[in-house]
Amino acid sequence: MKHFITQGNITNKRVEENIKKNFPNGIDFCYTDPPWGNGNLKYWKTINKKATNFNSDLITQNELEIKIVNLITENVINYAFIIYGVSVANSLIKKFKNNPKVKDVQYYEKKYANNFKNCTICVTLNEAPIIDFSFLKDTKGLQSLKLICEKFKDKYKSVLELFIGIGYYLKVLHKYNFVVVGNELNNARLNKAISKIE
Ligand SMILES: C[S@@+](CC[C@H](N)C(=O)[O-])C[C@H]1O[C@@H](n2cnc3c(N)ncnc32)[C@H](O)[C@@H]1O
Repeated sequence: MKHFITQGNITNKRVEENIKKNFPNGIDFCYTDPPWGNGNLKYWKTINKKATNFNSDLITQNELEIKIVNLITENVINYAFIIYGVSVANSLIKKFKNNPKVKDVQYYEKKYANNFKNCTICVTLNEAPIIDFSFLKDTKGLQSLKLICEKFKDKYKSVLELFIGIGYYLKVLHKYNFVVVGNELNNARLNKAISKIE
């Protein structure tokens, strides 16, 4: 399975050029977990400098959210699932709701390690039928991704994963035979991700 992945800051124009070049008619759906919060963004920038000796531009949460909403609404055909911080979810939800291509937004809390909660923001785009995604409520770890893969595996072929990280999602999506289009800031983390699917 061939995937299409770029490396660098999400604001770099290469990210969208890669999407448009390989999927000019759009990608079936998006599943991704962006960093959230200005402190968290600074942390990833520092980690990137330590691991790769490359100093990336620092962007704010607001700039990141605008970029995410633009990349998704301009390039994804049906649905987007964004795993995000509970305390900042409203700011991203508001930006999606203000976009004319967005038909529906749902919010479900989920769990990750040590009983901390994050959430899944489920966005229905364009002509896609609105589905009740409440089956994602209270899922743990990768379970919500696996439920979406099971639901979409016979229907859809391509997925946008904008923050590849060390590839936990990439590995699951690859196993389900989806073509993954995406990006990661940190070269060292991206190498770990690629090694998971080789
Ligand atoms: C929560 S992790 C993603 C985990 C990933 N889904 C996985 O399965 O391993 C967030 C990722 O966003 C990346 N990141 C942080 N700031 C970024 C930026 N400005 N542009 C692009 N990626 C960024 C980090 O390097 C980190 O790997």
